[in-house]
Amino acid sequence: MKQFLSVHDAANIDFLVKSGLSFKKNPLTNNKQGKGKRIGLLFLNPSMRTRLSTQIAAQNLGMEAIVFNASQEGWAFEFEEGAVMNGTTAEHIKDAAPILGKYFDILGIRTFPSLKSKEEDYAEKVLNQFVKYSGIPVVSLESATVHPLQSLADIITITEHLPIKNKTKPKVVLTWAPHVKSLPQCVANSFSEWVNAWSHSEFVIANPEGYNLDKRFTKNAKITNDQAYALKDADFVYVKNWSNYNDYGKMIPVEDDWMLTNKKLENTNNAKVMHCLPVRRNVELSDEILDGRHSIITEEAGNRVWAAQAVLSEILNGLS
Ligand code: CP
Repeated sequence: MKQFLSVHDAANIDFLVKSGLSFKKNPLTNNKQGKGKRIGLLFLNPSMRTRLSTQIAAQNLGMEAIVFNASQEGWAFEFEEGAVMNGTTAEHIKDAAPILGKYFDILGIRTFPSLKSKEEDYAEKVLNQFVKYSGIPVVSLESATVHPLQSLADIITITEHLPIKNKTKPKVVLTWAPHVKSLPQCVANSFSEWVNAWSHSEFVIANPEGYNLDKRFTKNAKITNDQAYALKDADFVYVKNWSNYNDYGKMIPVEDDWMLTNKKLENTNNAKVMHCLPVRRNVELSDEILDGRHSIITEEAGNRVWAAQAVLSEILNGLS
């Protein structure tokens, strides 16, 4: 594997899932694979799970991991070609990224969208400049449009709970949830494109009118504005807020109550509830779900280590 920016870099999802589950059983089985190699984990935005799970994964493979909280500790990056840097930015990406390419063998980047310019965000303007100028394999630690390490962990988690009795394919539902502020579409986009590419489920997306995601990610998923209809017989319910894609980054008012409750789960097939975290309790998800028997959210977050380890191991295999 040369890079890990989206599902398009995963030639075989089933293989990555198998590899992740194998590392879960034996975390140190390849603990010499990354000897002498170094990964830089560069954060332009906050993180707990991605930062720690990727560090642990790298260490399990014998690789050194160095975290750089660039937004707090580094110079402010400039990303505009031809910029006259007489404002707040202090270092152009064209100058910084090649140096990161000298220090590290692999580079992980977290860079959230602006939610102001759909064109720039969906062109992955920031991430792609790290790819272009660093000259080393780049791993997305969540970018403007997708969060592939999260999605791989999600698929690993679903796989662990298969098979579902009397079904050849589980019903997986992605449902929109309320939030107090505008959030990126990344996790929902990414989950959609991974579930579609994995192709071992019936996939339904429920969101309020006007909140449809970009078709490039949802493809042939069934999309409905009726949450109760979507939840019927569901085996897995993935809960996530996202801001508006069409009226980009906006929160258009939603009148119905979209927060998941135990009552709403009664129509499901005893569904397992998932969420990428962090979660706003009693806004996005109720205490009764988060603390109840349906939630597999902690397990899902734990699987972030094995997803990252499977990916880093594949990238190490591709290094000369
Ligand atoms: N789910 C996730 O990416 O968590 P962090 O933002 O804490 O890394």
